[in-house]
Amino acid sequence: MRLNRRNAVKSLVALVSASPLVQSAVAQTKPASSTPSAPADDPVLEPACVMDFEPLAKAKLDKLAYDYLAGGSEDEAALRDNRAAFDRIIIRPRVLVDVHKVDLSTELFGQKLDYPILLDPAGGKNCLYPDGENVVARAAAAAKALHITNGGIQKVVESGKGPLWWQVTTGAQLRNTQTMRAWVKQLDSQGCSGICFTLDIMFVSHRDRNIRNKFDRSWGETGIPKRDARGKLPRAPNPERAGLYPSRPSPTPTWETVRELRSLTKLPIVLKGILTAEDAALAAENGVSGVIVSNHGGRQLDHVGGTIEALPEVVDAVKGKIPVLIDGGFRRGTDILKALALGAKAVCIARPYLYGLTAFGQPGVERVMELLRTELALDMGLAGVPNLAAINRKTARIR
Ligand SMILES: Cc1cc2nc3c(=O)[nH]c(=O)nc-3n(C[C@H](O)[C@H](O)[C@H](O)COP(=O)(O)O)c2cc1C
Repeated sequence: MRLNRRNAVKSLVALVSASPLVQSAVAQTKPASSTPSAPADDPVLEPACVMDFEPLAKAKLDKLAYDYLAGGSEDEAALRDNRAAFDRIIIRPRVLVDVHKVDLSTELFGQKLDYPILLDPAGGKNCLYPDGENVVARAAAAAKALHITNGGIQKVVESGKGPLWWQVTTGAQLRNTQTMRAWVKQLDSQGCSGICFTLDIMFVSHRDRNIRNKFDRSWGETGIPKRDARGKLPRAPNPERAGLYPSRPSPTPTWETVRELRSLTKLPIVLKGILTAEDAALAAENGVSGVIVSNHGGRQLDHVGGTIEALPEVVDAVKGKIPVLIDGGFRRGTDILKALALGAKAVCIARPYLYGLTAFGQPGVERVMELLRTELALDMGLAGVPNLAAINRKTARIR
């Protein structure tokens, strides 16, 4: 599948040509490189919304890989709540505001962003698409979106394209001062512009789907092995199992770790996985640059509610000292508008771009970003908020 960005833009413009307001929104969101001229016959343009990429991705994947991607933990209640919670928030549109130009641009830690939608870190991309991390990094750079990478993308980094943050979890990098120091030094020299420290995966959660499938985490890196003629997979060397008591070989990170990391680098540090006012306040007190309200896409601790439900308390707790980002279930421009109204500075997505990746490779990721970005611009134009500064708590109401 060859990227046909010109087709993408052409069809987008054709779709919305009826309204001058909408034309203006599209003009504002159109990538600088786009020159609409070719007919819209590219299959990547078929999906009407980002949800339409999921069945296309499912059709291409081994069931194991699909379950790894789509699934959540235990009862999958948080996974469902991430979507369901948006229905409890309604938008309060204003009228007779000049919206002939809709501007999505924003700034995060001194970095200018064309629009407030980031690509979340996601491990295991190789069981979805070959060399997935690099493909996503290239797509993010083309879409001018900030990508939080899991690493291994040296070539893209060397090309100097696209803003990048590096994610870190409980890995060896944080084991002690020496390892932390060496790691941040390496990041500085790799063109990284921020660190995303994921906090909610001190243990990998209980995921029924993976356990039933005897999923082996290493397949996330190597790809799912070929099935034999009877459709059987080779035995997983290290299958996920129920009933394994959790333990880790060394102490897990604490606020002391955050303070130490803070003292070792000037890079922005963003904590991902904050769900309470208490931790949000501690983040602000400990010199953290920003937080991401996240439940890991419903993949870690279950029954924590939808992330948008936690957003107001986190926003209140940081008292405007640091930006609050959010992820979890964002599939529509209106979802993003609701989060911005409740005080988020930007939103991050994972599964939508992973479905786009699986279905179409790089063009799929780019198209997902384009659809969300355009929907957001349209929704802002229709809600009478021509730029991000015009969005505030009064733009939304919780039922
Ligand atoms: C397949 C997959 C792998 C993920 N791997 C990581 C990871 O390595 N680190 C991390 O911080 N979050 C990871 N996440 C969580 C996402 O970064 C993000 O918090 C969440 O998926 C957002 O919700 P959404 O998928 O509904 O957009 C992963 C999510 C998925 C779907």
